[in-house]
Amino acid sequence: MTDKLIIFDTTLRDGEQSPGASMTKDEKLRIARQLERLRVDVIEAGFAASSNGDFEAVKAIAGHIKESTVCSLARANDRDIARAAEALKGAPRARIHTFIATSELHMAKKLRMTREQVLEQARLAVRFARNLCDDVEFSPEDGYRSDPDFLCQVLEAVIAEGAGTINIPDTVGYAVPELYGHFIRQLRERIPNSGKAVWSVHCHNDLGMAVANSLAGVKLGGARQVECTINGLGERAGNCSLEEVVMAVKTRRDYYGLEVGIDTTQIVPASRMVSQTTGFVVQPNKAVVGANAFAHASGIHQDGVLKARDTYEIMRAEDVGWAANKIVLGKLSGRNAFKQRLQELGIELESEAEVNAAFARFKDLADRKSEIFDEDIIALVGDESVTAEQEHYRLLALAQHSETGERPHANVSFAIGGHEHRADADGNGPVDASLKAIESVVKSGAELLLYSVNAITSGSTESQGEVTVRLQHGGRVVNGVGADPDIVVASAKAYLAALNKLHSKTERVAAQG
Ligand code: KIV
Ligand code: ZN
Repeated sequence: MTDKLIIFDTTLRDGEQSPGASMTKDEKLRIARQLERLRVDVIEAGFAASSNGDFEAVKAIAGHIKESTVCSLARANDRDIARAAEALKGAPRARIHTFIATSELHMAKKLRMTREQVLEQARLAVRFARNLCDDVEFSPEDGYRSDPDFLCQVLEAVIAEGAGTINIPDTVGYAVPELYGHFIRQLRERIPNSGKAVWSVHCHNDLGMAVANSLAGVKLGGARQVECTINGLGERAGNCSLEEVVMAVKTRRDYYGLEVGIDTTQIVPASRMVSQTTGFVVQPNKAVVGANAFAHASGIHQDGVLKARDTYEIMRAEDVGWAANKIVLGKLSGRNAFKQRLQELGIELESEAEVNAAFARFKDLADRKSEIFDEDIIALVGDESVTAEQEHYRLLALAQHSETGERPHANVSFAIGGHEHRADADGNGPVDASLKAIESVVKSGAELLLYSVNAITSGSTESQGEVTVRLQHGGRVVNGVGADPDIVVASAKAYLAALNKLHSKTERVAAQG
């Protein structure tokens, strides 16, 4: 057993399964680059067989990431595994992560398979994967709710076939810390060849215990890999949050006695990037990455921190990247300074034309906003990265009038497939009027599930408003994000961004289907 804790990030796979969090290939690639700067050991880049889009995203990430291992999920069948191997071809370090459910409930009701069939399929899947890739991980889905005797049989068999990592998912977030820790310990003690594999924890947060369960799996169970996501993003209540688990192990090194290879100063930039890309806003009181995580409001606390920092602070804000929130560019900054900042942020635009377009947007923003922060740059490049094919709808101009005692009115002009349309409407407020004007032409019939506005950088009304719009239509849920100093414009952009996602009808297979 090593004293290194492997950090396996699944933001781009399990995190992306969160309704509305789906990302484009370029967005995934940008996040993967940030994960590499964060120095995560393994990046689960997607589920290559689930859709052509996911295949292309895994392939692009495999082609660009040099330091971290790039992993693709695959169900325990030859087609999925071959597809994962194909997508991972370009990666200097690749891993295939194959899974099959082992709980009675999942085997009987979902898979309609017997224990013998599941055991055989798991064994054959790992054998096949090992022929294509040296590094293979196996997960018994709903493992924590599986019969330990049967689980021992399956895990012993897959280790014998060459699975180097054994992951024990608490798929439905049912575990409690001590029981989960002991569950893993017992499996490791009972399986004769358990020492040949690295044991891994994968916890969902339905009872709010994903981080606690993961840490118990490490401390009590002896696991040496944690599967987690930035901001705890993930289906339902989410996954174990990377920033919390990493900072717990670092801050309480006295207790855990483990090394993690993470560059913690990249945590806040990663959190912001994921939140801005997916539209999943981070709650202010979220540990480590919430806006209030290091804010001391009470007089007693402020006084204490000024006298001696460690009176009320167990971590330093700058150690997790809060110092990154500084003015970086302004109105007078030139194209070279802008390009260099893009490089420092790890943003690589494909062509000079894209850099020029992003720079033009930057200049436009700098005319309206005196201080430009990293978050502003990430948001404006986010707009830029949408390809013409993905951008069926595009905002051209917006005018609105609102006055006390009068019904607000908006005039919106926007392009649909390159053709200009104009529409106007009244509404309860200028945002309502603008979205109604767009909808009067598009007639999407989509249901608005969520509308939220957030200031991209805190502390000033000069900040850009970042709007998230979540729409549901035809069984799909999508998020659209838009940013602008004018929140009505940001709202129209967000609405059109969500419509663009609904328009690109990417079909995918559910990972746990
Ligand atoms: O939660 C889960 O069971 C999973 C597996 C596919 C590893 O995400
Ligand atoms: Zn999961």
